[in-house]
Amino acid sequence: MASSAAGCVVIVGSGLIGRSWAMLFASGGFEVKLYDIEQQQIRNALENIRKEMKSLEQAGSLKGSLSVEEQLSLISGCPSIQEAVEGAMHIQECVPEDLELKKKIFAQLDSIVDDRVILSSSTSCLMPSKLFAGLVHVKQCIVAHPVNPPYYVPLVELVPHPETAPTTVDRTHALMKKIGQCPVRVQKEVDGFVLNRLQYAIISEAWRMVEEGIVSPSDLDLVMSEGLGMRYAFIGPLETMHLNAEGMLNYCDRYSEGMKRVLKTFGPIPEFSRATAEKVNQGMCLKVPDDPEHLAARRQWRDECLMRLAKLKSRVQPQ
Ligand code: NAI
Repeated sequence: MASSAAGCVVIVGSGLIGRSWAMLFASGGFEVKLYDIEQQQIRNALENIRKEMKSLEQAGSLKGSLSVEEQLSLISGCPSIQEAVEGAMHIQECVPEDLELKKKIFAQLDSIVDDRVILSSSTSCLMPSKLFAGLVHVKQCIVAHPVNPPYYVPLVELVPHPETAPTTVDRTHALMKKIGQCPVRVQKEVDGFVLNRLQYAIISEAWRMVEEGIVSPSDLDLVMSEGLGMRYAFIGPLETMHLNAEGMLNYCDRYSEGMKRVLKTFGPIPEFSRATAEKVNQGMCLKVPDDPEHLAARRQWRDECLMRLAKLKSRVQPQ
């Protein structure tokens, strides 16, 4: 394995998300040590990463300035967590979404790390105050929540524990920028963080409109993919407001009463009943039958679209 000037990062858990992080860190020139409770998972991860990087290179989508072989030489498996964390600057936990399991891992890390390394979790929805409660190194702890697939979707939500040191947030922010991701600072922890709160608000209203027979499931999805989503790949809802009038204040003057009127008609949280789930499923299966082959093919198509969109965005929005 190559020694790296950029520093050493440890990935704990070599599944779907751990592998993506490994590729991203290697693209930024970091040495990456993969650890997993299952040795076979490490072997699978190394093989899968090699294949994935080769096909990215062929598609002209490999990130970073190093060649495939240089990036691969930065990634290695490590059978012992103790050995893996020695000299590491950042540890990214990627084990399954289970609070007790993650707490156990962080307690173990807490007992072996120094005062400098950052302890970061990929959790999608566990609160930092629960995850890092009682750790000696709590100041060095943070959630860095990626979005699937992280190689093509750059957003990372940084969510601190109330006792996380500001330097931990700053260092993690800088590290994410260095590997080409787009970090955002969630200033106070909140259930669902920011991305999933927005996503659930959309799902909730989508569900209600389909349930009430206002729109079919497939037309509902078109409203997003051919309408709102076209903008949202480039500008957010707040900038949309700003641009759709003569600035934000003018937008509020013109449209806030109308927004409030419509928002008052939003009902309670949907029950996600079986009957509506079946109706939505029927609509979805017309386009994508829910067997493993069709779902996998559609995911692959989605990832290819995201890869092309990422290329387009890098051309129109140089960072
Ligand atoms: P996964 O199931 O693909 O991988 C988990 C890995 O952790 C497996 O290789 C497993 O062997 C390993 N593992 C289990 N116990 C362990 C232990 N005690 N020590 C070391 N390794 C252990 O899971 P996935 O999808 O990669 O998710 C990981 C984390 O990332 C979860 O917290 C998840 O919520 C979060 N996440 C997942 C996203 C997704 O779309 N899959 C998106 C964003 C975050």
